[in-house]
Amino acid sequence: MTLVVKSGGPAALAEWQAHFAECAPRLDVRGWDDPDLDPEDVRHALVWDPDPGRLVGFPNLRLIISSGAGVDHILRDPYLPPHVPIVRMGGMATVAHMADFVRLGAFALLRDMRRIMANQQNRHWEEFGVPRSSAETRVGVMGLGTLGLPAAVALRDCGFPTIGWSRRRRTIPGVRCYEGPEEFAEFLARTDILVNLLPQTDATRNIIDATSLALLPPGAAVLNAGRGSHLVIEDLIAAIGAGHISGAFLDVFPVEPLPPDHPVWTHPRIVVSTHIAAIPSRRDRARFAASAIAAFERGETPPNLYDPAQGY
Ligand SMILES: NC(=O)c1ccc[n+]([C@@H]2O[C@H](COP(=O)([O-])OP(=O)(O)OC[C@H]3O[C@@H](n4cnc5c(N)ncnc54)[C@H](OP(=O)(O)O)[C@@H]3O)[C@@H](O)[C@H]2O)c1
Repeated sequence: MTLVVKSGGPAALAEWQAHFAECAPRLDVRGWDDPDLDPEDVRHALVWDPDPGRLVGFPNLRLIISSGAGVDHILRDPYLPPHVPIVRMGGMATVAHMADFVRLGAFALLRDMRRIMANQQNRHWEEFGVPRSSAETRVGVMGLGTLGLPAAVALRDCGFPTIGWSRRRRTIPGVRCYEGPEEFAEFLARTDILVNLLPQTDATRNIIDATSLALLPPGAAVLNAGRGSHLVIEDLIAAIGAGHISGAFLDVFPVEPLPPDHPVWTHPRIVVSTHIAAIPSRRDRARFAASAIAAFERGETPPNLYDPAQGY
């Protein structure tokens, strides 16, 4: 069975092959531009940003696996074979990294890490208190899927009173769950730190805008680790300027890399990280891809299957 790989460029191929040799020794792992590749042999593809029109050239392709969490880099191919299922990258390493990141972000916002770092950089000695402890800070997680649900559990276990919001109501012990647009305002009104882990869809684009920010309690903060398209940054900056929002921790942006002259780089109330919340290693990604292929070949539904009807 042949797996064609386009991720990390030709230099990464040997590394992919070594990792797959460990976890799926029977897979024949080939490079995207391998001149000896017979397109008829390709049954699976692990890709990032595949050249439009190439995937349809593998007539026996059965499964496409995105090498990253998003799938828009695959969907933009106008010739994408519509019958081939797409799996989004995932696995326990991604889940664990994201849970660590939201814990980091929630505590950084709670204790004003941005100010601590600025004081160190400026050699400025300042004694300042914080308005509340973790036990008094309500965290609201938007999106309770593969990453959001374990993130909510991790935050709950850190002592933050945690609530969650998703399309359909989830049941999580110790985490009050809200569902759908009709309960969104109530969810926001009970959220001191808003953690976004929604997928990018038409319904979630610009969901954190002036209207939703205004529904958060005064002094609330925002942690965006979902997609840049979820947040209207200008509205966030305005809400911080107005004193309604206390700060933000942003890992994802509408344009990446974030342009050097973007105001958030130097904003005194915004922590910027560079889309590093949950990056699994190539070894972890190979393991996840191998397990998805194995599940598919056993006739099971692979994990993290993209649902075109839902858009995530
Ligand atoms: N920053 C990083 O390094 C990084 C790394 C990996 C992933 N990500 C991002 O993390 C996000 C979450 O990924 P995931 O794998 O956890 O996604 P997922 O498993 O598809 O979960 C999506 C969650 O969002 C909910 N949802 C979807 N549309 C909704 C809507 N219109 N209203 C309310 N809830 C809605 C779903 O509700 P249901 O439960 O009802 O289906 C589900 O709970 C994605 O945006 C991904 O790109 C970021």
